[in-house]
Amino acid sequence: MADKAKKLNTEAYKGVRDFFPKDMSVEKSIFGIWRNVAEKYGYEEYGASVLEPAELYRAKSGEEIVNEQTYTFTDRGDREVTLRPEMTPTVARMVAARKRELVFPLRWYSIPNLFRYEQPQRGRVREHWQLNVDIFGINSINAEIEVINIAYDIMRSYGLKNTDFEIRVNSRRLMNYIIGEFFGTDEVSIKKITKLIDKKDKMQPELFSIAVRDVFFSARDTIKNPMGGSSSEAPSPDAATDGLLTLLNSGNFAEFASRLPQTVDEHVGLKEVREVIAGLENLGITNVRFDQTLMRGFDYYTGIVFEVFDLNPANRRAVFGGGRYDDLLALFGNEKVSGVGFGAGDVTARDIMETYGRLPVCAAPAEIAICIVGEQNIPYAMDVAQELREKGTRVMVDFSGKKLGDQISNADKRGVAKVICIGDEEVKTGKLIIKDLQSGNEMEMAADKLPGTVDESR
Ligand code: HAM
Repeated sequence: MADKAKKLNTEAYKGVRDFFPKDMSVEKSIFGIWRNVAEKYGYEEYGASVLEPAELYRAKSGEEIVNEQTYTFTDRGDREVTLRPEMTPTVARMVAARKRELVFPLRWYSIPNLFRYEQPQRGRVREHWQLNVDIFGINSINAEIEVINIAYDIMRSYGLKNTDFEIRVNSRRLMNYIIGEFFGTDEVSIKKITKLIDKKDKMQPELFSIAVRDVFFSARDTIKNPMGGSSSEAPSPDAATDGLLTLLNSGNFAEFASRLPQTVDEHVGLKEVREVIAGLENLGITNVRFDQTLMRGFDYYTGIVFEVFDLNPANRRAVFGGGRYDDLLALFGNEKVSGVGFGAGDVTARDIMETYGRLPVCAAPAEIAICIVGEQNIPYAMDVAQELREKGTRVMVDFSGKKLGDQISNADKRGVAKVICIGDEEVKTGKLIIKDLQSGNEMEMAADKLPGTVDESR
């Protein structure tokens, strides 16, 4: 009967990854880079459960994430639970919960696994690990400059040069002001147009302008302040659409700014873009570009938003994404605490390191392999191994019973640098030979005089 039963599939669930030891080794070194850089700037690590009440994401994460991408289920106690699709609402919840005890500004980082029901494709999977770096309690632009500096530092640590990647910056505050005040639309239309701009690259240009025009058209009654002028005459939906498209098609920051009336030029949004670019330039970070089409999908961003892109066409997805969110913590009933931060995924990190030939080499599982001839010598070999381990050496013992040649070749295949072969003779004399598999060099040592680390044996 048993062989008639349907065999289980060995494939992982769609869009998630198994990490075999080689993959895990790469993953560990990516996490190592993340931890290293974040801690260099004084950030402390925190963690949380993957399970969150579903309502946490409804208020501010954005419709696409909540309606199309979350894994949500009802638990046995009838609660709606979501596997976290991002960490920002969780960290906001945690900071709000301990606001009185925590010492601000807070510099926190975390490496959570996140779940999004996306169409798996290059750079996008259904479970990924994401470095989150966030600073809380700083209202000045210095917070943005610091977190973007950290993102830059990580890109450099992946092995990329300044000319290999680009940091794109925009201001939600500025765009909301332009769409709302300059074109005089209401809140709902601002949100709709923001979403459309966010999707602009994936849309046909004609469809994009039709969709924008539709929003302006349906907001007709609320459009009051044509093209930033003082007239109370509303711009037609066509004029508003043309005006917005012209702005979106500006080639650079200067051109964009020159198309705005002076009133907008003094707006804090435009000023903060200038300041963040200048602040980064001051740190020698010049691969920063203003991108008026960069919106970011989440509803909670209130100020500067940014993304980092590899310029190699093999990797078209954002490597980092983040920005300022000043209102998120107020959702928990506290006064405002501003937050600025970013997320950076492990998949894109791996892809770009691979593209640039910077994937870390898999570390050998041990420094020494002990090969054994004769089952009776296993206890002695294990004892030798134990002594070496106590001195800090990573040792593996081959008690497979395979031929000696095979044992040595197995050790070599695993990248283990040295072997000690133990047979009757070694047990009798207590004299062991450490052999370097690369150079072929051999060194004889008394078993009770074995060195603490392999390097000392040289
Ligand atoms: P996000 O832009 O959704 O931002 O994600 C940040 C980064 O995570 C992306 O640039 C990408 O590297 C990676 N990522 C996102 N989704 C996937 C996926 N399905 N598969 C593989 N990698 C992915 C956020 O999540 C914000 N909560 C970040 C943030 C922190 N903002 C402020 N603080």
